[in-house]
Amino acid sequence: MQLSYVLTLALQLLAVDALTVPASNHPGVPGVPKTRPQIHVGPKTLKTKLPRNSPPRHKTCHVKGGTADDSAALLKSFHECNNGGHVVLDKGVTYTIGTVMDLTFLKHVDWDIQGTLTFTTDTNYWQANSLKYKFQDSSAFFAVGGKDVNIFGGGVIDGKGQVWYDLFVKEPTAKRPLLFVIDGLEGGTMSNLNMVNPPNWFNLVANSTNIVIDNMNLKVAAVGNPAKNTDGWDTYRSSSIVIQNSIIDNTDDCVSFKPNSTQILVQNLRCNGSHGISVGSLGQYVGVVDIVEDVLVYNTSMSNAGDGARIKVFPGAPDNVTMNSGGGSGYVKNVVYDKYDVQNVDWPIEVTGCYTVKDAAACAARPPKFHISDVLFKDFTGVSNKKYDPYVATVACPSPEACENIRTENFQVKAPSGKSQAKCSNINVAELGLNCTAAA
Ligand SMILES: *[C@@H]1O[C@H](CO)[C@@H](O)[C@H](O)[C@H]1NC(C)=O
Ligand SMILES: *[C@@H]1O[C@H](CO)[C@@H](O)[C@H](O)[C@H]1NC(C)=O
Ligand SMILES: *[C@@H]1O[C@H](CO)[C@@H](O)[C@H](O)[C@H]1NC(C)=O
Ligand SMILES: *[C@@H]1O[C@H](CO)[C@@H](O)[C@H](O)[C@H]1NC(C)=O
Ligand SMILES: *[C@@H]1O[C@H](CO)[C@@H](O)[C@H](O)[C@H]1NC(C)=O
Ligand SMILES: *[C@@H]1O[C@H](CO)[C@@H](O)[C@H](O)[C@H]1NC(C)=O
Repeated sequence: MQLSYVLTLALQLLAVDALTVPASNHPGVPGVPKTRPQIHVGPKTLKTKLPRNSPPRHKTCHVKGGTADDSAALLKSFHECNNGGHVVLDKGVTYTIGTVMDLTFLKHVDWDIQGTLTFTTDTNYWQANSLKYKFQDSSAFFAVGGKDVNIFGGGVIDGKGQVWYDLFVKEPTAKRPLLFVIDGLEGGTMSNLNMVNPPNWFNLVANSTNIVIDNMNLKVAAVGNPAKNTDGWDTYRSSSIVIQNSIIDNTDDCVSFKPNSTQILVQNLRCNGSHGISVGSLGQYVGVVDIVEDVLVYNTSMSNAGDGARIKVFPGAPDNVTMNSGGGSGYVKNVVYDKYDVQNVDWPIEVTGCYTVKDAAACAARPPKFHISDVLFKDFTGVSNKKYDPYVATVACPSPEACENIRTENFQVKAPSGKSQAKCSNINVAELGLNCTAAA
């Protein structure tokens, strides 16, 4: 396939000069909360539909906080202010959630978090009562879903993660809740918020479409036992999602595109301490079809990380010990990482077509049922680190048929030695454009 084809595909994602205002929320519009920010999607934008008119809200519900468990008061406000209202968590007030909340019934609501939203640390209660999801055995304190929901306010969402990191040391299988789950939301924004110390991932966006996330600040600050699995955002069964203009300081994936993430734009992120921006893992579950398609990751700064741009796919059959590490099928198509600066990153590019297996023979015993095509790594700059010097990239395709049209363009990353070599297998080296001097 020609490079121009990749670029054409990439360009289908972008309309360079277009500027989308996802919510008609100009300050001063009657009924629109003054604190609701106006969000511009840019510099790149999605061609697909994004939330546009989010009608004014005509009712305001201030939640009274400061008690040992403010969940009932918050839930009551969401019922009272649903269908056209504005739920406010006031500045200077701490709101503690001690009871699981299913907020997937929301419609035309603004959630204005000016104060601090936090959670009780009763790990037994949460493990027994959290919302449970089959996907990756995950669970949540609460989930937001419905239609046309804007979340903003400048406040803090504090997951009180340390108690969960401490629990993990004694009990690695403890069900640690995700901090913020958006499940089944059609049209919405989340912006101008600080999130700290999630027990598990910061954010999961699942079963959702037309969501814009802007100007968020995510920070993990563990004292003592280290934080675990603190992914910034994971998208799952979702499309038309924008994540932009945000700062992430964590210890796991900065953003991760899980199964069935399509039409995703991630731009202007500053990630530190993470595992990079990843496609996958895909193919983990027997018989399940996973698709990641039309993803643009633009203008990333990635520091002190395990990976820069990453794609990982499980083998085509589960291992016979855990039984949950492979057996799915699907494809990855039209994924573009454009303008990507790395500083102190182990693998600026890592493509793993047979995740978790130890060698080529073990992979051949469970050949992956995935096709990876039209992937472009463009305008990469910066320096990796000593870990794999002189190697700065590893591209491991399980077979020549599994990968098609995987390319770099203007890839300038060097290892500290000044070298820039790659480990590659089953890949068209001329097309890839890296100096493949060893087998991945
Ligand atoms: C997403 O939708 C599926 C199908 O309705 C459901 O089983 C699942 O619980 C939903 N949420 C998540 C996070 O997977
Ligand atoms: C890239 O992102 C940074 C923030 O990380 C921003 O300051 C800069 O303006 C962006 N550049 C472009 C070309 O959008
Ligand atoms: C970035 O991450 C490193 C460790 O990975 C940490 O020491 C440093 O404080 C972080 N910097 C910022 C600005 O968050
Ligand atoms: C992903 O989408 C495909 C095609 O629509 C569907 O067959 C598959 O079940 C979906 N997978 C998941 C994990 O939802
Ligand atoms: C487990 O899988 C390995 C190869 O992946 C195979 O050699 C072994 O026989 C299997 N064990 C069982 C109990 O099926
Ligand atoms: C590739 O790496 C080898 C080993 O360092 C070096 O000799 C060669 O000049 C490099 N080729 C290119 C095209 O950079």
